[in-house]
Amino acid sequence: MLVRALKFTGFRNLAPSSLEPGPRFNVFAGNNGQGKTNLLEALYAVCTLRSFRSSRLRDLINIDGEQAYVGARVDRGGLERRYELTINARSRIVRLDNKAVRPIAKYFGDFNVVLFAPEDLLVAKGSPGERRRFLDRAVFTLKPSFLAVAQDFEKVLKSRNVVLRDEQLSSSSKEEMLDVYDQQLASLSAQILWARINYLKNVQERFAGAFESITRSGLPASLSYEATGEVLGVEQFPELPSQQETEASYLAALASSRRADLRRGATNVGPHRDVLRFQLAGQLAGNFASQGQLRAMILAWKTAEMDLLAEVHEDPPALLLDDVSSELDPKRNEYLFDFLRGRKNQCFISTTHPKFVLLSEDRRDFRVENGHIEESSSL
Ligand SMILES: Nc1ncnc2c1ncn2[C@@H]1O[C@H](COP(=O)(O)OP(=O)(O)OP(=O)(O)O)[C@@H](O)[C@H]1O
Ligand SMILES: [Mg+2]
Repeated sequence: MLVRALKFTGFRNLAPSSLEPGPRFNVFAGNNGQGKTNLLEALYAVCTLRSFRSSRLRDLINIDGEQAYVGARVDRGGLERRYELTINARSRIVRLDNKAVRPIAKYFGDFNVVLFAPEDLLVAKGSPGERRRFLDRAVFTLKPSFLAVAQDFEKVLKSRNVVLRDEQLSSSSKEEMLDVYDQQLASLSAQILWARINYLKNVQERFAGAFESITRSGLPASLSYEATGEVLGVEQFPELPSQQETEASYLAALASSRRADLRRGATNVGPHRDVLRFQLAGQLAGNFASQGQLRAMILAWKTAEMDLLAEVHEDPPALLLDDVSSELDPKRNEYLFDFLRGRKNQCFISTTHPKFVLLSEDRRDFRVENGHIEESSSL
């Protein structure tokens, strides 16, 4: 999969421009605050229809403008398709090959990117919510249909919480409504749990292997997942019971936490409360690992994620690396670039200085200055 052309207008601080990236390494260099991350964000947005740093798409519109547009021409096995996203204050318009896309799921699948951002590097120590989002982003990249499930879950969860807190409703109509929401929530929770656990099962060994190659420390890195509501056993990634059984467990767990949920006005059981843990030598990485080891863990996860995607999709996704080098020490940086050289992905790499990018072949260099992007000679 190759991004052949990228075009944007009214996107953050970027000057209206089109760009024809090369098939391998595209390096975007510039000082702080010039628009490097904005450029990667534009590519990420046209691919995923989301931003990786803002929950509201309208933040992407230039502050002096009313509309942001990003278009990408993507080549997959010789077949070119045009992906387009237009963002207005109140709406988002999505087009694929000049046509509206319905259902939106049709937009996803053939155009894939994996993002590796410096914020990710300390996620092993971050809040449980950050780690859930980190995991869900990986699941979604591998399996785009996961997005719809996650969004439905959020919607039902919100509605259930509104009912829990509603003081006008009689208790019998409350119970009736909760019965309906619990059914829906149990089914969606089971689907989310399944998707997450399957992902973790697939990524786990690659993750541990990559961590050892990066650190050569003999300290094993591992992942564990704890589900609320006792829907899973305590051991690591047990064989999941059937989806039906999981759903039934959620239903029972929701029923038994209903009293407490009503008291607190919030739903306490479900994948929105689960905990993903990064561990080093069996200890919680957040408390035990050094900063360098925490970074190495995420580097290991990301390389595992890329390999898993390449295996499943055959067609490797584009990789977006946002100034990761400046957060890694020279050894980890070398590992990262050796890894990239050994793969086939088209890469978009931002950096404050081109020399941080340890690549000499198949490389195109661009300079980013005050939102203007121009191709430049390397180094
Ligand atoms: N909606 C917007 N409209 C106009 N400018 C914006 C908008 N959002 C952000 N900016 C500007 O974009 C610039 C930041 O761009 P970006 O985050 O891409 O920088 P960067 O080159 O990645 O810098 P760094 O090296 O510090 O990460 C800032 O000057 C910011 O004010
Ligand atoms: Mg940046």
